[in-house]
Amino acid sequence: MSLHDAVQRLSKDAIKLARGSRVVGLGSGSTVSHIVREMSKLPGKESMEFVPTSLQIKIEAEKSSLQIADENMIPEIDIVFDGADQIDAKFNMIKGGGGALLREKILISAAKKVVIVADAAKFVQSFSRSVPIEVHPMGRSAVAMRLAKEGGQPVLRTLDKGYPFITENGNIILDTTFPSIPDPKKKEFELKIIPGVLEVGLFTRRADVYYKAKSDGSFDTITF
Ligand code: A5P
Repeated sequence: MSLHDAVQRLSKDAIKLARGSRVVGLGSGSTVSHIVREMSKLPGKESMEFVPTSLQIKIEAEKSSLQIADENMIPEIDIVFDGADQIDAKFNMIKGGGGALLREKILISAAKKVVIVADAAKFVQSFSRSVPIEVHPMGRSAVAMRLAKEGGQPVLRTLDKGYPFITENGNIILDTTFPSIPDPKKKEFELKIIPGVLEVGLFTRRADVYYKAKSDGSFDTITF
């Protein structure tokens, strides 16, 4: 039994939450792709529409023959399934490891119900990784200076060969380390108002359900 088995099992369970939904939001990442594959087996999926947050998950959804919805359906989203990079003890999240944070935040803020799927190692007492911050390319230096003034250490996200990583929205990501984030909601707001910052990878809307995949093949469900 492995983490992979746990993700498989929890995906089967999680998709049941989508029963009766008309519009379903899909986050990005490897964990959500398991959900998407499972979703292809959901009875009634033909009458559902799916809003993807990235080309990665759109391709997965197409492979699973899910009907892709137009973006004007976002306010109608009944439920969204997404992954996370880290989840603190109060269930705040850091997201954006895959670079899809802007679209993920749009969906998560609009959805009636939010379901997060992540492996147990991502559940931590307090955040211990950098916060992805999506920035307009023109604001690169100005935003980096502001972040440094606020105690952050921004690092431009790059691809293997050193080219800057460009998001699907044409922006860059500054992965920013802070000594600590005692109040994630306050931090999210403070960072968001910096001109040039398009989205912050701090997600402080608590989800309705968290699935925690464990390495022994089992999973926990935390429901609010
Ligand atoms: C995408 O930008 C992220 O917010 C993902 O939700 C996150 O990186 C989780 O991805 P994995 O499921 O691949 O770990």
